Amino acid sequence: MVEGRADYRDAGLVFPPGFTFGSATASYQIEGAATEDGRGPSIWDTFSKTPGKVWNGDTGDVACDHYHRWESDLDLMKDLGLEAYRFSIAWPRIMPTGTGEVNQAGLDFYARLIDGLLARGIRPVATLYHWDLPQALEDAGGWPARATVDAFARYAEVVGEAFGDRAHTWTTLNEPWCSAYLGYGQGGHAPGRHEPAAALAAVHHLNLGHGRALQALRATSTGTPEYSVTLNFHVLRGVGDGAGEAMRRIDALANRAFTGPMLRGEYPEDLLQDTAGVTDWAFVQDGDLADIHQPIDVLGVNYYSTATVRLWDGVSPKQMNDGHKGVAGGTAWPGSDQAVEFVEQPGPYTAMGWNIAPEGLEELLVSLSEQFPEQALMVTENGAAFDDEVAPDGSVPDPERLDYLRRHFTAAHRAMARGVDLRGYFVWSLLDNFEWGYGYAKRFGIVRVDFDTLERTVKDSGRWYRELVRTRAIPE
Ligand code: FCB
Repeated sequence: MVEGRADYRDAGLVFPPGFTFGSATASYQIEGAATEDGRGPSIWDTFSKTPGKVWNGDTGDVACDHYHRWESDLDLMKDLGLEAYRFSIAWPRIMPTGTGEVNQAGLDFYARLIDGLLARGIRPVATLYHWDLPQALEDAGGWPARATVDAFARYAEVVGEAFGDRAHTWTTLNEPWCSAYLGYGQGGHAPGRHEPAAALAAVHHLNLGHGRALQALRATSTGTPEYSVTLNFHVLRGVGDGAGEAMRRIDALANRAFTGPMLRGEYPEDLLQDTAGVTDWAFVQDGDLADIHQPIDVLGVNYYSTATVRLWDGVSPKQMNDGHKGVAGGTAWPGSDQAVEFVEQPGPYTAMGWNIAPEGLEELLVSLSEQFPEQALMVTENGAAFDDEVAPDGSVPDPERLDYLRRHFTAAHRAMARGVDLRGYFVWSLLDNFEWGYGYAKRFGIVRVDFDTLERTVKDSGRWYRELVRTRAIPE
């Protein structure tokens, strides 16, 4: 390797004119106003109010209060020069019980938001599902139940009719891996179930929901939106004797379980075999794969770090170090004699304990474009949590986050130089927010939120990003 290149700190790299610079958030993480204007409860309301599930008992009841402060937040985005904003629509605001009656006040909120973005020249990139399943649907079985797919398709039709004239990009799901495996397998995310077979049924129903939602959005959108889905890929490293086998298994479970049906119209044979002791996949019905395999314009890629795995050597797998990432269900499926263990990786680390590995992003983008040469890509999330401190002058110096972003933008640029069709990049996150099981303890924003006063302050990384967007070149 060329001296210095490994650091991924190339200043001056220029991004092409069509490249989109944005930032991302999600409804439950920022909106608050959990019971206002007819919003129904979601699985994250229930989960966060269950003692012991979320750090410090934090909930999204108030979060960043974006529901009330959306207008000044839009001004902030404009001030940062954002070209696009990736947000999610809260299903329980639109349909409080997941099915049936539509809540006009919920639609009105997103109409204000979308119109406000357009008025400021910011492209709306709307995700339909960023994990806030209406609780009533979970009570009826959740994603392991096929009826949830029908409900999701109907919800997609409603938002397609409401905003399909104006949305720039529709994204069906955010990280179905988390919804399925963390929600129904490992249990660190809502609804907190520990049922391996249900987790795999959820994988399939999320895939089917994606396909059916795309069909509904296409049927109802009168504008010319682009269609997408966001996946969190596992960039794998292996250790020990069975390294290759461990990587193959996790690649099947975590990556190809989604790209297989969505982009190729089939489940990988090895996935079905690996999981045969858990389920016979009888929930896959005739016609499902054709429904899932719908064209998309852009594939959303979320990337934070790499994952290192090894085949379980007969000793009980070490407890996974992280309830949020790097878990892949532990893959200790009952009935399988060999499991895969996630092992600690070399640092440096962010405040999440995730290793910082910009080369993993370059590798991922190149590998995806080799596997799916026709598929345009977009980084829909990348960013880092660090424990920021406010300086005496009120500014928020966050050199580590700034450095993380610099290195990952460099990695993205290098992937483009190697021929990857990368259309844009959304920094996670615009604001410090409710970081799921970690509550408000982990700050990912390029804008600080004081959770006592709800005041926003652009961090140094936010100023740096503004400069990047303005000049289209990685600043010194
Ligand atoms: C991703 C989620 C996002 C945020 C980041 C840190 O898995 O999509 O909501 O929590 O991780």
